[in-house]
Amino acid sequence: MERRRSQNIQIRLEKVNFESNGKRILKDISMMIENNMTYLLVGRNGSGKSTLLKLLAGIIEPSSGRLYIDGKEVKDSWELREIVGIVFQNPQTQIIGSTVEEDAAFGLENLGIEPDVIEKKVNEVLEIVGLQDYRYKDPLELSGGFMQRLAIASILVLDPKVLLLDEPLSMLDKESKKDVVNLLKSFHGEKTMIVATHEFDYFKFADYVIYMDNGNASVYDFKSFFKDPPKNFIIPAWIKPF
Ligand SMILES: Nc1ncnc2c1ncn2[C@@H]1O[C@H](COP(=O)(O)OP(=O)(O)OP(=O)(O)O)[C@@H](O)[C@H]1O
Ligand SMILES: [Mg+2]
Repeated sequence: MERRRSQNIQIRLEKVNFESNGKRILKDISMMIENNMTYLLVGRNGSGKSTLLKLLAGIIEPSSGRLYIDGKEVKDSWELREIVGIVFQNPQTQIIGSTVEEDAAFGLENLGIEPDVIEKKVNEVLEIVGLQDYRYKDPLELSGGFMQRLAIASILVLDPKVLLLDEPLSMLDKESKKDVVNLLKSFHGEKTMIVATHEFDYFKFADYVIYMDNGNASVYDFKSFFKDPPKNFIIPAWIKPF
């Protein structure tokens, strides 16, 4: 995998709304997701973080508004799925294969890729996430952190330009959290990442904060956000100072 390649991708949202059962969950969201930047997606429970990630991953479609990739309007959510990969909170629910290797290969097999190409790609990715010595292991026997690394590997084989992570640390113990954060940090500047989390102190390497408040989203510079947070955003005292 050419990890050093610059990936010119930019996603723009223009007045994006998402409604479900008559309830407005995302409200007139306009913002720019820049190339190879890391965004922390923060906000209270129920503010719309997971919904926004699902929309960016092409899992749900906006009720109104437009999305652009590199200035070109997205007409079909498949266009997003081609460039975006999403990793969810619980690694266990993302395991499909009966060995680490098989699990990492799944997405490529689904695309009908040649077996020797799959093998090469899986080798590269397992090395990146540090699971090369575990390839024949049953994924369910891995520690939480290693399982989350595998969930990330299974997405990385598809070479997403944008990596979305929804609370990737919340099911993990402290050591595993650090481990997964270090892996994500190694992609900083090489991939676009959006990480929904309540554990912002693990992500001091992030460039920007997307703050969600009751379905509205605003983008802040990372340092200025934590220096001078919005009035209704409570940062636990033990996290300060940044
Ligand atoms: N499919 C759905 N149908 C109806 N309401 C939904 C649906 N999905 C989410 N919601 C509601 O949308 C709002 C935003 O939910 P969402 O899960 O995106 O928030 P969140 O910021 O990820 O919260 P958390 O921090 O708890 O993960 C909530 O009020 C939730 O109850
Ligand atoms: Mg959520």
